[in-house]
Amino acid sequence: MSDALRFVDGNLDRFRAELYDFLEIPSISAKSEHDGDTRAAADWFADKLGSAGLTTETVETEGHPIVVGESRTAGPDAPTVLIYGHYDVQPPEPLELWTSPPFEPTERDGRIYARGSADDKGQLYMHVKALEAFHATGTPLPINVVVVAEGEEEVGSPNLVPFVQAQAERLACDVVLISDTGMYAKGIPSVGFSLRGLAYFELHVHGADSDLHSGEYGGAVANPVNALARIIASIHDDEGRIAIEGFYDDVIEWDAATRDTIAALPHSDESFARDLAVTELSGEAGYGTLERLWIRPTCDVCGVLGGYTGEGAKTVLPNHAMAKVSFRLVPDQNPDRVKELFEAHLARVTPPGVSVELHELHGGRPWKASVDGPEFEAASEALEEAFGARPVPMGGGGSIPIVVEFEEILDATALLVGFSLPGCNLHAPDEWLPIENYEKGIGALVRLYAKLGG
Ligand code: BES
Ligand code: MN
Ligand code: MN
Repeated sequence: MSDALRFVDGNLDRFRAELYDFLEIPSISAKSEHDGDTRAAADWFADKLGSAGLTTETVETEGHPIVVGESRTAGPDAPTVLIYGHYDVQPPEPLELWTSPPFEPTERDGRIYARGSADDKGQLYMHVKALEAFHATGTPLPINVVVVAEGEEEVGSPNLVPFVQAQAERLACDVVLISDTGMYAKGIPSVGFSLRGLAYFELHVHGADSDLHSGEYGGAVANPVNALARIIASIHDDEGRIAIEGFYDDVIEWDAATRDTIAALPHSDESFARDLAVTELSGEAGYGTLERLWIRPTCDVCGVLGGYTGEGAKTVLPNHAMAKVSFRLVPDQNPDRVKELFEAHLARVTPPGVSVELHELHGGRPWKASVDGPEFEAASEALEEAFGARPVPMGGGGSIPIVVEFEEILDATALLVGFSLPGCNLHAPDEWLPIENYEKGIGALVRLYAKLGG
């Protein structure tokens, strides 16, 4: 393994230059005008996987392709690790808020700025370089590896579960290793112990047949924008709890040990609020910030639409309003059940004179790890050796819906080893990845593969 680690150290500049090539491809899965770019990113990635010594296949789907790489040289008695990540990225808009263009990777202050640097091309590519280090130095890879890189994670992975089900034998593995989350703080690496699930809806409120003069009709005809505001306001109570009947029925009380671990993490509400330029933090009563982020469910309206929003005043009574409503879920909540509960809530709170329509956008179940297994320990040791600090367990506020499916379909243990940092601007303008994490992280992965191989 020391040859492989030396190889990493001697090739870091090239590793970074290659990542820049990857980041230059605008693989925006949500936008069909970028389908060619998304395909190009898949091809580019498959080519690099091949150079790292894996046999590769680009599997077609109804959407963007899935790139599969395999290395079976460790033999049938060695463990098999499935490495999952995504080569697609979120749309970069609003472009004017980027300091340097999203698809022109730029270095500033020890950071790589580009869309996808942290989520997830940079992190995915770290695995390719760690694999290459074994291959290029003739160091036997002690684990069998299956890489699965999808191009639809940011649009809800519509084709991934069917693929995993159809190819369950080929994808059979002991561990699913994912680098698509973050470290707790600079210099403090982390192993993930949870991810929230997601139930995401588009809510439409309809009123009259057409827009109306707000003086001629206002007061006698229901206004869908007013109604939507009332509906949204009804979702939370004054304590920041979700006021949907039955919503908390399936929410587990987290074990005391995890809550103690969370409480012991270095955290300051004041600096957290200051970094975000908010006057104070707010959320569910009775829970600390990290608990609110990691182990408690939420509801956030991600967007609203309705009525006249152009210049000046137009006295109009609109006939339609829309909101994008997202629930983050925790074990053992289920997105289908949340949909039923939300529908029942809507039936109760929708004001007279309007009708509502609910469409499901994304759904994903929450995930919770057992933090005492040998894989967790292997990851902790590898990270400690590479970063020089003992990793802390970390919850994930975001969602990677495939994690639960992988565990269930493949009967494997998921292991989340992420390298972004809080503030890396995932999905936002000026996304970045620390160069230090990219470089040390590759070394950590080399060590982790070795440890997982026993
Ligand atoms: N990598 C993120 C998920 C993530 C980010 C987990 C930070 C933990 C910490 C992933 O690419 C993502 O953005 N997922 C989406 C869900 C998906 C269904 C669109 C999300 O969480 O909004
Ligand atoms: Mn991601
Ligand atoms: Mn993402």
